[in-house]
Amino acid sequence: APGGSDAAKRRAGEHAADTVSDGDVVGLGTGSTAAHAIRALGRAVDAGLDVRGVATSYAARDLAREVGVPLTDLAAVERIDVAIDGADQVSDDLALIKGGGAAHAREKVVDAAADRFVVVADPSKETATLDRPVPVEVLPDARATVRRAVRDHGGTPTLRTAERKDGPVVTDNGNLVLDCAFGPITAPESLATDLATVPGVVAHGLFVGLADAVHVGHADGVRVRTT
Ligand code: A5P
Repeated sequence: APGGSDAAKRRAGEHAADTVSDGDVVGLGTGSTAAHAIRALGRAVDAGLDVRGVATSYAARDLAREVGVPLTDLAAVERIDVAIDGADQVSDDLALIKGGGAAHAREKVVDAAADRFVVVADPSKETATLDRPVPVEVLPDARATVRRAVRDHGGTPTLRTAERKDGPVVTDNGNLVLDCAFGPITAPESLATDLATVPGVVAHGLFVGLADAVHVGHADGVRVRTT
């Protein structure tokens, strides 16, 4: 995960976890910031809070089990009360780039199904305009055709590989990830639509119009940004 102080991430995660109510179905995000929210929820459950979590990844599920957050199956829930999830970048208008952990397909299902989607971040994620590469999860056999389509849309795709693995990163869903650099993304909504309509794209990491609030941890507290 990219920079940012762990204390700031913890403050953001704990602040967001505090907004969860008794009886909620809670989307559990992926990454180091969302992990702080999951740990805080575990402590709240110990203290009597009644919630059911829906994990966005293997990692989130394992952590929830470890800290005692009861889990329910995404396949069995039609709606979620609140989702708490991290982001790789947050723009002025609360558009997000996600997928640094390659979990964005499931994250998007959970975050979009939530009545309230709360993003947790530290100030290193904030930017006026999104400009990091957009992670695009692709069906393995479609990697060449999707690469070409991404280039046609002005992007430069790079197949994601891992340091400690030979060959490409394989997602929790058995797919591959193309990190697609577009430079500054001045029209995230239209790029999001363009990418979503490419055959073979399972999900991309642009989350536009989904976040209801962003909790940004600072040295002296949490700043809540809303649309
Ligand atoms: C996972 O695919 C991403 O969308 C994460 O939510 C993102 O990478 C945030 O991770 P950190 O909180 O560790 O920066």
